Amino acid sequence: MTPVGIGLIGAGMIHRIYAENLRRIPGARLVAVADQDPARTEAAAAAWEARAVSVEALLADPAIHAVLNLTPPQAHAAVSQAIIAAGKHVYSEKPLAVTVPEAEALLAAAAARGVRVGCAPDTFLGAGIQTARKALDDGWIGTPLAGLALMLGHGPDTWHPHAEFFYAPGAGPLFDVGPYYLTALVTLLGPIRRVWGAARQSGPRRILAGPRAGDVIPVATPTHVAAQLEFAAGPLVTLVTSFDVWATETPRIEIYGSEGTLAVPDPNTFGGPVRVRRAQQDSWATLPLVHAWTENCRGLGLADLLAAEAQGRPHRAHGALALHVLEAMAGILHAHETGTWVTLTTTVERPAPLGPAPTWRDLT
Ligand SMILES: NC(=O)c1ccc[n+]([C@@H]2O[C@H](COP(=O)([O-])OP(=O)(O)OC[C@H]3O[C@@H](n4cnc5c(N)ncnc54)[C@H](O)[C@@H]3O)[C@@H](O)[C@H]2O)c1
Repeated sequence: MTPVGIGLIGAGMIHRIYAENLRRIPGARLVAVADQDPARTEAAAAAWEARAVSVEALLADPAIHAVLNLTPPQAHAAVSQAIIAAGKHVYSEKPLAVTVPEAEALLAAAAARGVRVGCAPDTFLGAGIQTARKALDDGWIGTPLAGLALMLGHGPDTWHPHAEFFYAPGAGPLFDVGPYYLTALVTLLGPIRRVWGAARQSGPRRILAGPRAGDVIPVATPTHVAAQLEFAAGPLVTLVTSFDVWATETPRIEIYGSEGTLAVPDPNTFGGPVRVRRAQQDSWATLPLVHAWTENCRGLGLADLLAAEAQGRPHRAHGALALHVLEAMAGILHAHETGTWVTLTTTVERPAPLGPAPTWRDLT
């Protein structure tokens, strides 16, 4: 089988792991790279043995079947719209867009054009979240009643060379890291019915450390967001995302059920451990993982999209899931502004489980 051509737009920090993993997908080949920064385009193209082209040339190339959109969040909608208009499948980094209307317009355009929209995160396809899902589906903790999801950190100030976009609307801890937690929770518990939120912005600027130590950047989005998520199936989950926390000893995600507690691993990773402690037990048990995808497999969602197209089935990291997650995040900030619960207008089916143990080869 001739591999399909993949284009990559946005050759920044995250593009390397995608390019590396693309080499593991026998049915796909990275053929062209475009970045608005010519030096980054050239460097990435040389590193990955692809052509360095303009965005326009990449979109006009008939050899390109699907495009990775790895630009910053604030550019996602416009770049994805251009990819769809060119008649190519798009797999975007998260969030799908910065606003719900932009995301809805994207999905409508894709449906009209007959192309697929996939969106990160795909960490929920990893062994950790898939094992946690199986534990819930198999009834290890009975009926899920409630949960806690905590992403407490101090932001990308110490390590990211372009930290500005993390502090603009469309990012912050909720829109930047929240998608990992919300996508995992929807995978585990199903769709969200309504959300509530409270947020604060801790200061108008940040002083960077790391590669740009001393640089001052503006902050224009909440840096600490506390939310309640009421799931359609009943569970009530408390979600806190923060770029204001220097240290914590709290868990990432715990689900509390009628028969026990499930400790879910970091949803920003693909691995475990997944631990369960059932009612009346006095210790935790670590569950065996359902498959072997524990390393950084970013791109798994794109591989699944390509396989799904070939097999005529829905792909798992799909646009409707990303839209539901985006509506929840936008709803949390809207709830903060209005002081009321926000009922979501979208719903979504849980993506099909992934397992046991397909290889990159099985996914094309
Ligand atoms: N850095 C990480 O660790 C990480 C991890 C997971 C997800 N992500 C996500 O990946 C995306 C990119 O993040 P990053 O850290 O690589 O950012 P980055 O700033 O390092 O890279 C983004 C690149 O996109 C280019 N770009 C911007 N607008 C463009 C346009 N309209 N056309 C062509 N090129 C354009 C920029 O020149 C830059 O090279 C974001 O959505 C981010 O949330 C990043």
